[in-house]
Amino acid sequence: MTPTRTFVMTGATRGIGRLAAAYIVSGNPDVHLVLLARGNADDIATELRGSGGNVTVITTDLSSPVQIRATADRIKALLSAGDLPPLAGIVANAGIQLTNALTETADGYEETFAVNVLANHVLIRSLSESLEAGTRITVTTSDTHFGDFRHNLGIVPAPVWHHPATLAAPGAFADPESAVAGRTAYSTSKLAVVHLVHAFARRLPNDVQIVSYNPGFVPGTGLARDANRFEQFIVNRVMPALTLTPIATTKSAAARHLKDTALGGIVAATGDYIDRGRVVRSSDESYDRAREDELWDYTEQLLADLRC
Ligand SMILES: NC(=O)c1ccc[n+]([C@@H]2O[C@H](COP(=O)([O-])OP(=O)(O)OC[C@H]3O[C@@H](n4cnc5c(N)ncnc54)[C@H](OP(=O)(O)O)[C@@H]3O)[C@@H](O)[C@H]2O)c1
Repeated sequence: MTPTRTFVMTGATRGIGRLAAAYIVSGNPDVHLVLLARGNADDIATELRGSGGNVTVITTDLSSPVQIRATADRIKALLSAGDLPPLAGIVANAGIQLTNALTETADGYEETFAVNVLANHVLIRSLSESLEAGTRITVTTSDTHFGDFRHNLGIVPAPVWHHPATLAAPGAFADPESAVAGRTAYSTSKLAVVHLVHAFARRLPNDVQIVSYNPGFVPGTGLARDANRFEQFIVNRVMPALTLTPIATTKSAAARHLKDTALGGIVAATGDYIDRGRVVRSSDESYDRAREDELWDYTEQLLADLRC
């Protein structure tokens, strides 16, 4: 079957996204999946093609807004030339969690904020006008954005909001060299993702949806790969037992929920927060119009600077 719709996806080289990409292509020969990956993704492309998937890989480091813009331009050119079928969705799943809040990208941004927040804004903004009517953008967030024990199990500290210019710079949090600061940067970035989804929802055309997706706590992915050996042992060897309880989600369940969300199998309104397959309310803090506008203005300025 010739593919009739393109989905652009980030974060498909490991963890939840890798499995979700396999679920998206299997049984959907009408889908052409464009994967943005910073490293060599030949193995995953071969694997997905082996199961009948139509896949294109474009090398893109999401910590670089310039690279994302260039990739978006390339995708738009492929769409215009008819070398890709019409754009039917964006699955912005990539994310990182570091053990400090000082790691700088080549452009001087704090890396967690650059990959988890700025990259999503630049990618979605650069491609949204190419989306067909009736399509959906899915952005992966995290229930750590709530900041309470029920949602973070005491593992990740609560978000600490600052002006986006502060969050985008290294050292935004107390003891910035500590793992606590790194994880605070993570939960704060995921709160920013929910803000961004609300901000986009107010600005996108009515026939293009954007939703945030929370996979729940999914032990055994690459997310904790920066943690110390003891913490990695706990997350990767001990905590998987929690997937036998409602506390944690298996990688396959998280990937299926992501696939269902991305392909529109879960009914939601634009701006909604989809928690493991169900629409629920995100944190009270995440509904803050002033913050959302502030974040929008900051990220738009970044884009404007890129266009110069
Ligand atoms: N695991 C959990 O408990 C959990 C809970 C809530 C939310 N999440 C979210 O779920 C999403 C997937 O996480 P995961 O647990 O599956 O983690 P993972 O296994 O570490 O996967 C993260 C993905 O993001 C990609 N990525 C990171 N930085 C990138 C960059 N600069 N350029 C391009 N790609 C980059 C990684 O690519 P590389 O292979 O090149 O590193 C990888 O494909 C993330 O947004 C995460 O925050 C996870």
